[in-house]
Amino acid sequence: MNPENQIEQFKKLKHEITRFMLIYKFALDEMETKIEILKQEFQSLHDYSPIEHTKSRIKSPESIMNKMLRKNGELSLDSVRNCIKDIAGLRITCSFISDIYHVSEMLQKQDDLTVLEVKDYIKNPKPNGYQSLHLLIQVPVFMSDRQELVCVEVQIRTIAMDFWASLEHKIFYKYNKSVPESMTRELKNAADAAHALDLQMERLHRDIKEIKDDDEDDDLSSFEELRRIVIHNQQFTLPANFIKLLGDK
Ligand code: GTP
Ligand code: MG
Repeated sequence: MNPENQIEQFKKLKHEITRFMLIYKFALDEMETKIEILKQEFQSLHDYSPIEHTKSRIKSPESIMNKMLRKNGELSLDSVRNCIKDIAGLRITCSFISDIYHVSEMLQKQDDLTVLEVKDYIKNPKPNGYQSLHLLIQVPVFMSDRQELVCVEVQIRTIAMDFWASLEHKIFYKYNKSVPESMTRELKNAADAAHALDLQMERLHRDIKEIKDDDEDDDLSSFEELRRIVIHNQQFTLPANFIKLLGDK
């Protein structure tokens, strides 16, 4: 092949790969919007959000290629799509363990999403201690001329689980030799400590909520205050007769 043809072919492939990866980016955008909606809805109505933060990433072409080579897969975009389910990844960090299952349920109930797989590493932690709830979710992406069903790997975890996983990754990532047993044990102990912390914080959260709910029952808020609502940092006051009119319906 002469150099000009080679450049042309490279450009064509680059264009195809860009298109391929862009679709995963759109799927992540959709998932992030869904999470943002849940977050704002909770924050507004319950003054509490089960979601601390989210982080998304697209797998780099280099990691995709290496994973395909590891799996001995044929190197075509079709087989990459079929073999690698974590090209689009979304990590949701929740406040408490119960929030993880709550968020997972809310996503599973959405009609446009299909949950292909659930891996519960909280009920069944990995031997090293890793904990998280993993969902493989298929998201429909609508483009100018077609619709595609795109896989997104969603990892839902608490702050403590995230802390452990981030540091474990930092310490052991790409350490190919076997890790001495004493270190494996210590790592597992650290995961157990993180779990104990999660349970303790959840207990505190539950107890204080009960006290707060009791206090609220006793709290005689003024009518003025009851009429105030906040929508996305904008404050509104409901007209008194509006409430009366709605109530009369
Ligand atoms: P991959 O081929 O790596 O995708 O693994 P898998 O197909 O067995 O999927 P699994 O659901 O077990 O793990 C997928 C992802 O979870 C990884 O890419 C990591 O982000 C995370 N993960 C899984 N195990 C561990 C672990 O032991 N430590 C850390 N830090 N992260 C993990
Ligand atoms: Mg992975």
